[in-house]
Amino acid sequence: MIISAPTDYRKAAEAKLPPFLFHYIDGGSYREHTLQKNTDDLADIALKQRVLNNMAELDLSTEIFGEKLNMPIALAPVGLTGMYARRGEVQAAKAAANKGLPFTLSTVSVCPIEEVTPAIERPMWFQLYVLKDRGFMKNVLERAKAAGVTTLVFTVDMPVPGARYRDMHSGMSGKNAAARRILQAMTHPQWAWDVGLLGKPHDLGNISTYRGTPTKLEDYIGWLGANFDPSISWKDLEWIREFWDGPMVIKGILDEDDAKDAVKFGADGIVVSNHGGRQLDGVMSSAKALPKIADAVKGDIKLIVDSGIRSGLDVVRMLALGADLTMLGRSFIYALAANGQAGVENLLDLYAKEMRVAMTLTGAKNINELSRDSLI
Ligand code: FNR
Ligand code: LAC
Repeated sequence: MIISAPTDYRKAAEAKLPPFLFHYIDGGSYREHTLQKNTDDLADIALKQRVLNNMAELDLSTEIFGEKLNMPIALAPVGLTGMYARRGEVQAAKAAANKGLPFTLSTVSVCPIEEVTPAIERPMWFQLYVLKDRGFMKNVLERAKAAGVTTLVFTVDMPVPGARYRDMHSGMSGKNAAARRILQAMTHPQWAWDVGLLGKPHDLGNISTYRGTPTKLEDYIGWLGANFDPSISWKDLEWIREFWDGPMVIKGILDEDDAKDAVKFGADGIVVSNHGGRQLDGVMSSAKALPKIADAVKGDIKLIVDSGIRSGLDVVRMLALGADLTMLGRSFIYALAANGQAGVENLLDLYAKEMRVAMTLTGAKNINELSRDSLI
């Protein structure tokens, strides 16, 4: 398959993965309206063309929480990344590090923290979900600190999982799911050999390390529902603060008042996000939510945004709307599934190229020069 655009990786991933995994990545919740709006609303943001400004020297780099980044992109936390490519978290983290960008390890990753951090030269970010077993949180924060994790990303938009109807149809969950998954693996022999066999063990590495026994993946979706804690509140953040003195980012904010509360709490950053349209279907796209949040808190807190970013042009649009940094979810996962570490590295090169053209033709010499003046 010929890859020329960042979005070409979606089809390549679909060809490689058993359907239950492709649809788990690709799908959203309920009728997937928000999933669709994330990309549609972003595509509708019109850039303002400016010319003849001598754009020979461009600087895409930025800095956040004392870390230098080659461009304003981080890899978002994605559960089960080690099922999409062999030891996928390690491959994605290496790609990000090689391109001078942060990788965020999910709580529900296949590879545990201790497997990923020694493989990369750069400090890693870690995403925390609150499990009902609070002993796990304390344990995992201590381990993250010991492994040199710099930034904690605390995800707050999944106190309960949204209904993923696609997963019920695909065999990710629902009736006879295990048998259907085996049949799908048999018709995807390259994946079955490379990831299914050589990529073992397949479990939730961070949680297995804590419990001392493997956390099996037979009923992953059921496991999320049973173990995530719907009682989470600002009190939990105060509790976490006692165990975490590094930068703390709250992920999953879509409302100005919640953003202001995050500033009041003393968070270092927020991720404006609807979880890639995977939680409450019908909520606003990130591109729509971001300007209002930027008006309320820009400058008081670092503004990170995700949901719907599929290209370097989208990154430029989000920065123009007020973001300091963007996060890629599905976009990098498709590339990882299609071609592992090399796929993600190539994807990031494509993003950089697209950003350069967009900045040249909007007259922004560095990312601080992107603002709402860059839009029509
Ligand atoms: C996610 N996301 C996510 N977020 C998080 O905080 N912890 C997690 O474990 C996961 N897991 C996860 C799995 C899969 C398959 C996807 C697609 C997403 C959400 C992710 O971090 C990010 O917010 C979205 O992916 C952003 O939207 P786009 O870029 O995918 O449109
Ligand atoms: C998801 C969870 C794991 O979106 O964040 O599937």
